[in-house]
Amino acid sequence: MHSIAETLSGITLGVTNDAEIESRLEEIKREEREQHAMEQRKAINVPAWWTVEKFDESRWPALKSWIATGDMKSNLLIVGPTNVGKSHAACALALRAATEEKATIYRLREHAFYPLWDQARYHDSGLFRDVVEKAKRADVLVYDDLGKVEITKGTEYALTPFGCVLFDIFDERAERRRVNYVTTRYPAFDLLKKAVGEDFIRRVLQREGEDASRGRIIAYRSAQKHAEAE
Ligand SMILES: Nc1ncnc2c1ncn2[C@@H]1O[C@H](COP(=O)(O)OP(=O)(O)OP(=O)(O)O)[C@@H](O)[C@H]1O
Ligand SMILES: [Mg+2]
Repeated sequence: MHSIAETLSGITLGVTNDAEIESRLEEIKREEREQHAMEQRKAINVPAWWTVEKFDESRWPALKSWIATGDMKSNLLIVGPTNVGKSHAACALALRAATEEKATIYRLREHAFYPLWDQARYHDSGLFRDVVEKAKRADVLVYDDLGKVEITKGTEYALTPFGCVLFDIFDERAERRRVNYVTTRYPAFDLLKKAVGEDFIRRVLQREGEDASRGRIIAYRSAQKHAEAE
């Protein structure tokens, strides 16, 4: 027998006990989380088949526990040669954070961001500012291919104009304690330091003084030696 409210709304309540109410609430929460994660997926622009479940942990043993727990307390610099799955790893972690922590996530690719910045110098469509704002505000930023475009003027102390824009993004993120997952192809830390500057790396990893725990360098297995030397 349906109540009038049930008949009019078309929703059958029919809840009989606390356990059932609880399990329905759980289900609603889970649906909300999934909905949120689906919306966030768009912001990192990955193909439909890229799911956290597809993530092959054997490629990145150091990230295993992260993927399991969705920990988003530390910043990561993911280092490795091309095509080893750096972006995939960063996006999988971000997607995990979007699902578990209901975090907002965003992805910037240096090679795509640079032309947008270049264009904005001559004609500001508003799109560039929108992208910068999103990159600053997202709980988790995936930044791909750090150092692909020149960030310093050949010494590690002076930034290029594009480098200034990037520095500003990571500086604000550091102030707001927002998490960064950054990928780079620079095989040796020394080379990366020369290309983007130590100050820049410190902003990305948000390391303060001796405290290195907030920022970690994760290297693809065959590149491990370089990272350990750092
Ligand atoms: N863990 C994984 N499971 C399944 N497929 C993966 C995994 N990691 C990467 N791939 C696939 O391998 C290819 C390379 O991955 P990805 O683009 O993440 O590499 P990358 O290290 O970021 O490369 P690049 O330096 O060119 O940016 C892609 O087609 C990606 O979908
Ligand atoms: Mg990549």
